[in-house]
Amino acid sequence: MILLAGGAGYIGSHTALYLAEKGVPFAVYDNLSRGHRESALGWEIIEGDIGDAQRLAALMRDLKVDAVIHFCAYALVGESMRFPGMYYENNVANGISLLRAMVEAKVQNLVFSSSCAVYGEPSAEFIGESLPHNPVNPYGETKRIFENMLDWFDRAYGLRSVRLRYFNAAGADEKARIGESHDPETHLIPLVLKAASGERKSVSIFGTDYPTPDGTCIRDYVHVTDLAQAHLAACEYLREGGRTAAFNLGYGRGYSVREIIDACRKVSGREFAVEEAPRRPGDPPRLVADNRSIRTALPDLEFRFDDLGKIIGTAWEWEKNRRF
Ligand code: UFG
Repeated sequence: MILLAGGAGYIGSHTALYLAEKGVPFAVYDNLSRGHRESALGWEIIEGDIGDAQRLAALMRDLKVDAVIHFCAYALVGESMRFPGMYYENNVANGISLLRAMVEAKVQNLVFSSSCAVYGEPSAEFIGESLPHNPVNPYGETKRIFENMLDWFDRAYGLRSVRLRYFNAAGADEKARIGESHDPETHLIPLVLKAASGERKSVSIFGTDYPTPDGTCIRDYVHVTDLAQAHLAACEYLREGGRTAAFNLGYGRGYSVREIIDACRKVSGREFAVEEAPRRPGDPPRLVADNRSIRTALPDLEFRFDDLGKIIGTAWEWEKNRRF
């Protein structure tokens, strides 16, 4: 039984759906502070906070949990710059309660949602796991702290973990049953598609003077269902005795903001206004994964949605038919 802590959020709910379709037993635990009740398609959401270690430990024992996927976190870079304490409290302090509960309930396999934000602003064209960790915002810092803590929990208690360092999660369930829904929305693809649908007047490009071919930032957009698949593969790796590890999770291909806007025009068939705006503080020019480690360690992983048209196509279907 896999416990999805934070399983009602964007990546958590797509992982729940993926496990449901594979017939893998799981339970969702979420305080619904940023997740959505409507994301549960026929499964229960156990409402609760990861800060409640006793309840979590009891739950893990009752449900016979043998692996936890820990998605719970605040994940907005700008917000973390304004309210760092909130990020340390939720992403670090509450996360410690989850680890304590795992130790108490003797659950030894953990898949942790980490981020390429741990690297900060690397100059490498393709980012490998061994690059230095120099986060440039409290969000990335909380992910780095938690990752480091996991090494010590392995040494002390044999709690093994896989940290998946996501690049830019994007897209939606291919049947548009669930999708991305943040309030406020700050991510590029949903914002461009809201301009395409007419929900927003225009979309802004944050910075056109970056040292990239078209002057706009480059990111490695990875489909959320491929992320979901990687979580199950990581659980299986740990269940088979795999060692604690950290893997970059991106396709190893970058697209600029302008390329994303062009692709959204093409997929939606809509015209919309685009404004050029100043840079957004803290945005590195280019973040693209070197994903060779995960491909080697989890060889059955098959990226089914490694195609910008599919990523934007599924996001567009969701945008037109969204339920929450
Ligand atoms: N952008 C725009 N206009 C917008 C929104 C975004 O030009 O209206 C640009 C950003 O400046 C950036 C790119 O589009 O260059 C992607 O921005 P997102 O906000 O979609 O994603 P980020 O790369 O900033 O953030 C993602 C995750 C974070 C994670 C971070 C790691 O969403 O959780 O990668 O750097 F921390």
